[in-house]
Amino acid sequence: MLCKICKTKGKREKAVINLRQHKLSLCKEHYIEWFEKHTLKTIKKFRMFSMDGKIGVAISGGKDSLSLWYLLTKAGYETVGIHISLGITANKYSEKSLKLCQNMSERLQKPLIVFNLQDNFNHPIEKIAELSGRDNVCSVCGTFKRYIMNKIAIDKNLNAIATGHNLDDESAVLLSNTLRWETGYLGRQYPVLLERKGFARKAKPFCFFTEKEIVSYAILNNIQFMETGCPNSESATSPIYKQALAFLEHKMPGTKLRLYKEFFKKARPIFTKLNEEEVKLNPCEKCEMPTSTKICTVCRIVEKIKGKTIC
Ligand code: AMP
Ligand code: FES
Ligand code: ZN
Ligand code: ZN
Repeated sequence: MLCKICKTKGKREKAVINLRQHKLSLCKEHYIEWFEKHTLKTIKKFRMFSMDGKIGVAISGGKDSLSLWYLLTKAGYETVGIHISLGITANKYSEKSLKLCQNMSERLQKPLIVFNLQDNFNHPIEKIAELSGRDNVCSVCGTFKRYIMNKIAIDKNLNAIATGHNLDDESAVLLSNTLRWETGYLGRQYPVLLERKGFARKAKPFCFFTEKEIVSYAILNNIQFMETGCPNSESATSPIYKQALAFLEHKMPGTKLRLYKEFFKKARPIFTKLNEEEVKLNPCEKCEMPTSTKICTVCRIVEKIKGKTIC
């Protein structure tokens, strides 16, 4: 297969990728160009952030977030990487992830903030979940990651936090919330969440790209990334929704993109209206971060596990 753009210029360059849902096959140079142009277009269209001020890029060590940090820096944004080291020892997961983030920081010559859970909360994430009596580690992990990211962004006065969420993640969340008619979550799902008192702005510039498109961008740019996911994620439900959507995508290319884009146009405004009565927030009595209860979830967990140890 030949690159469609090269063809229009009378060149015969072999394509490295075939984007079925866009009916487009491209060579390395034109794929990178296409991918970067679309990311910048998404940032502009949803007014995610501007060139002024610093953008914190939440880096897990995976393909999505490392590619995002690379692309935003290449495009001229002032970036700082933020990595939360969770202390997961299985397959040396946290150790390897941290190394990959440090490698990218060196390559880009940009600072990396590392927040170590063990140093700050005395335990790795699995122990925090166990001591707090919650069996879904990834869900506790998500709560801590969101809290820490937000706190760093507020403390460091960052303009926004950018995460590597992709179309597979976003369409799976959308399907899961729709199947349970979670109207509150449906009203809030969007590529950008504006800042509010105590909450930093959050943006997902890769939300219209599939995993395959991002892996291709990472490989073509020699980005080394963690190839395995979190070892605790076996109990998570999101892979089930992703599999269901992968089946539909295979049979009907473009399904995921259509589902996600049409949701913004046709359904989300209805749910946003339903949620007009905002949840009242106040500063947490312990840490002063916004919460709808007296003490936020993270502080409640930290309080509960204080002094507890596992024999
Ligand atoms: P996940 O929920 O693991 O699919 O990750 C979604 C996004 O959250 C990633 O693309 C990153 O931007 C961010 N993220 C996940 N894990 C971490 C971490 N340990 N440190 C910093 N950011 C993270
Ligand atoms: Fe953090 Fe699974 S324990 S994502
Ligand atoms: Zn080409
Ligand atoms: Zn708190």
